[in-house]
Amino acid sequence: MADPVLVLDALSAGYTDTPIVADFSLAVPRGAIVTLIGANGAGKSTLLRAVYGLNRRFGGRILFEGAEIQGLDPAARLGRGVGFVPQGRCNFPKMAVRENLELGAYTLARAAARDAVDRVATMFPVLRARWTTLAGNLSGGEQQILEMAMVLEAAPRLLLLDEPSLGLSPKMLHQVLDTVRAIRDGGVTVLMVEQNARAALRVSDTGVVMELGRKTLEAPAAAVLEDPRVRVAYLGGAPDEAR
Ligand SMILES: Nc1ncnc2c1ncn2[C@@H]1O[C@H](COP(=O)(O)OP(=O)(O)OP(=O)(O)O)[C@@H](O)[C@H]1O
Ligand SMILES: [Mg+2]
Repeated sequence: MADPVLVLDALSAGYTDTPIVADFSLAVPRGAIVTLIGANGAGKSTLLRAVYGLNRRFGGRILFEGAEIQGLDPAARLGRGVGFVPQGRCNFPKMAVRENLELGAYTLARAAARDAVDRVATMFPVLRARWTTLAGNLSGGEQQILEMAMVLEAAPRLLLLDEPSLGLSPKMLHQVLDTVRAIRDGGVTVLMVEQNARAALRVSDTGVVMELGRKTLEAPAAAVLEDPRVRVAYLGGAPDEAR
């Protein structure tokens, strides 16, 4: 691979004394969208959290742009260029969209923070249009876009997304996945976990399947969509219908 942004080398990680994610290796090429699918409890969130430094690591290495980062804390990883949007909502619901974005930029110096708010507001007109709306009153899809915008204020080059479409209607699901694509087209590499496997794989370059903490398949997304075992286990077995 020419220029992987992220390399996981035999990563094992978990919470207590037994690894949940075991011996997991993966290379994420620059400019790609790589989507990780798997059953509930397979360890998908644990893997993303481990890449961001939120979990106990039992072994293995994490290389970001060629340098080992497994010894860094999450803030340092963010500083290097790794952004993480966790599973579930994490905005400030009683504050306006503008205030959320200002808070998202609070670690930046004043001028840089202003630029960051401006940059993401320009990137996501849907947020600019809701500037004074309380975040809690946004639609689910808009809230998810706000979460991503808050992390993008730090200008990461790799974005880790845990179930961005969780709980969304089909229309909002597509709005969010289109946004993920736009983020990638803007130069940010994406490693995403998704339960809506079919829709997510359609916007992805590579699909990865995780079972019981281990990687059991990695292939071009189009091939994963056609894989008979994947279709039965994760795509509802139904024929691939047009979006
Ligand atoms: N904070 C925690 N402490 C201990 N064990 C945990 C913790 N969080 C998750 N686990 C365990 O780790 C395993 C994997 O959980 P994880 O959340 O990574 O799965 P997942 O693939 O993201 O599932 P889902 O699709 O439901 O989000 C599960 O057995 C879960 O019980
Ligand atoms: Mg999860």
